[in-house]
Amino acid sequence: MKFSRHLFVCTQQRAGGGKPACGNRGGPALVAAIERALATHPDGGQVAVTGCACLGPCFDGPNAVVYPEGVWYAGLTVDDAPALVAHLTTGEIAESRRYAWTDED
Ligand code: FES
Repeated sequence: MKFSRHLFVCTQQRAGGGKPACGNRGGPALVAAIERALATHPDGGQVAVTGCACLGPCFDGPNAVVYPEGVWYAGLTVDDAPALVAHLTTGEIAESRRYAWTDED
């Protein structure tokens, strides 16, 4: 089956100091909230959600990216689940959580 959109949410776990990890800051709960919403959404079967390992910009997480648009999101919480479901099902981008890449990224 070909999905119309695919969301990857970082659920990376990391113990100890150093960089923060999305999996320790709500990534798995966000995946669960999105999957629950899609389970009852009429277009939920047309899209995919995958928890994944580190996407890179750990300090700005929890992070996610939607394909095929290649739109990145940062600083996500479970409260952003409806907006991400909207992106997946309608293509509407949640600008307030869109990741602002810089030249240094
Ligand atoms: S741990 Fe999530 S982007 Fe690195």
